Amino acid sequence: MSDPLRPRASLRTAVVWEVLKDALERRVKAAGRDALDVLDTGGGSGNFAVPVARLGHRVTVVDPSPNALFALERRAAEAGVADRISAVQGDAHGLFQVVERGGYDAVLCHGVLEYVDDPAEGLGNAADALRPAGTLSLLAAGLGGAVLARALAGHFTEARHALTDPSGRWGEGDPVPRRFTADQLTELVTATGLKVGAVHGVRVFADLVPGVLVDTEPGAMEALLKLEAAAAEQPAFHSVATQLHVLAERD
Ligand SMILES: C[S@@+](CC[C@H](N)C(=O)[O-])C[C@H]1O[C@@H](n2cnc3c(N)ncnc32)[C@H](O)[C@@H]1O
Repeated sequence: MSDPLRPRASLRTAVVWEVLKDALERRVKAAGRDALDVLDTGGGSGNFAVPVARLGHRVTVVDPSPNALFALERRAAEAGVADRISAVQGDAHGLFQVVERGGYDAVLCHGVLEYVDDPAEGLGNAADALRPAGTLSLLAAGLGGAVLARALAGHFTEARHALTDPSGRWGEGDPVPRRFTADQLTELVTATGLKVGAVHGVRVFADLVPGVLVDTEPGAMEALLKLEAAAAEQPAFHSVATQLHVLAERD
């Protein structure tokens, strides 16, 4: 998924992609099939759906936005995976009006819980879409990363607001409706009946480092990617990550 023409983009997705790719490989081996049925709920224009389809899997993307689904179809065609991607208009809350309950080997829920009306219900539906032993990949905005970013930008009042706000928002102008701590996310996952396998902190440093240091220093991007991968594993850094990734499994 790493794109040499868009190094900043790969910095944002590298940790999640590596964890997800490994999890899908394990699922392929355990299922004894070459291709998995993957559901990407709130999959948007296919940032993950298209690379997952390129691995050979069949991906159903459910998203309420017609524009995102249009962009997804164009992107899937350009990547030569249109036959492996289904774009379905729908909502995390009414998921089973458009897809089969218990019909998927893996479900992605990336950058969606922040926006749904009821995160517990939305996540519950994502979990219920899994087959037995299926894998959930959950990615959501982290509270601590936002507090740190506002503070380092000199917005101290906004940083304190996010820290104390029940939804983790820094103010009226905050475009993200809700952020989570690692504990909140793992509690939400556990409440669905799934077993949490791993938690990773995503973009611990990437959003804080001045671009000039990464773009002009030889080898800096590679070194930062390695640093992000190492920090992602460390629980101490979960509390300052921009995003949190949770991998979970259905019994
Ligand atoms: C930040 S984007 C993430 C897109 C994609 N998952 C990714 O990782 O690039 C959030 C997506 O959630 C979708 N979304 C918003 N509300 C939703 C809901 N209630 N159910 C499902 N998807 C929703 C949006 O249309 C948008 O495509």
